Amino acid sequence: MSNERPETGAFFQRDRQWQPPAYTPGYKTSVVRSPQKALISLDNTLSEITGPVFGHSMLGALDADLIHNFAKAGESAIGPRIIVHGRVLDERGKGVAGALVEVWQANAGGRYRHKKESYLAPLDPNFGGCGRVITDADGSYCFRTIQPGPYPWPNGVNDWRPAHIHFSVFGHGFAQRLITQMYFEGDPLIWRCPIVATIPDRAAVEGLVAALDMQATIPMDARAYKFDIVLRGRRSTLFENRLEGN
Ligand SMILES: [Fe+2]
Repeated sequence: MSNERPETGAFFQRDRQWQPPAYTPGYKTSVVRSPQKALISLDNTLSEITGPVFGHSMLGALDADLIHNFAKAGESAIGPRIIVHGRVLDERGKGVAGALVEVWQANAGGRYRHKKESYLAPLDPNFGGCGRVITDADGSYCFRTIQPGPYPWPNGVNDWRPAHIHFSVFGHGFAQRLITQMYFEGDPLIWRCPIVATIPDRAAVEGLVAALDMQATIPMDARAYKFDIVLRGRRSTLFENRLEGN
C-alpha cells in the first residue's frame, strides 16, 4: 500500500504494486499459471466465510515441534535446531488470536518428504517436515524445527531456492487462507532466487526475511528467528495466493 494513502478506512484495498505480478517469465511456471483473461471478482458466500471451522482440540502435543513430531521415540531430526516465533497481526498491529498457522519445509539437506521430490539429498527418517500451531490471545505463535537446507530446482540452468519455510495462515473459514514463505536473515541465496525476484519492492522481500533473535535463543539448544505476519495494510506480508485473485 502506498505511503500517500491514509489508513483511516475500515478496509484496506489490496495493493497490486506490493504483491508481484502473476506473469513473471523469470519464474518459469508463472507463465502457464498466470491468468490469460480478465479477472472476475466474486463475493464470498456466507458458508465460505463462516465454515467449516477447525477445532482447537484437533492439535496434538507435538504438532508445533517438528524436531520430534515425526521422530521415533527418543530420537530427533538432524540439523540446526531453531525456534521460529512471531505474531499474526492485523493492519493496525493488533494480534490475531485463534489463527491456525501451518508450516511445511525441506529437511536440513534441502529434501522434501514428498513422492514427487527428486532431489538427491537424503531423507531424514526422523523428520516429516510439517507442523501447526494456533495463535495465542495476543496473536503470538511459536514452533521448533530444524533449519531447512537450500535446494536446486529446474527453472534456469542453476537455480537454487534459499532456505525457507512455507506458511499457511487460516482464519475462521476456508475462504480466509493465506500462504507465504519465510526466509532466513543473511542467506545470500535470497537475492539470487527467481521466485523472490518476482517481488517488485525490496521492502516486501525484507518483510519475508526472519531476523535472528538472540533474545529468544535457548543457550546450548536452539537459535531463534522472529517472523511477524501482517494480514493487510501498509506493512502486509506478501502472500503467494493473492497473485491472481482478490
Ligand atoms: Fe519450498
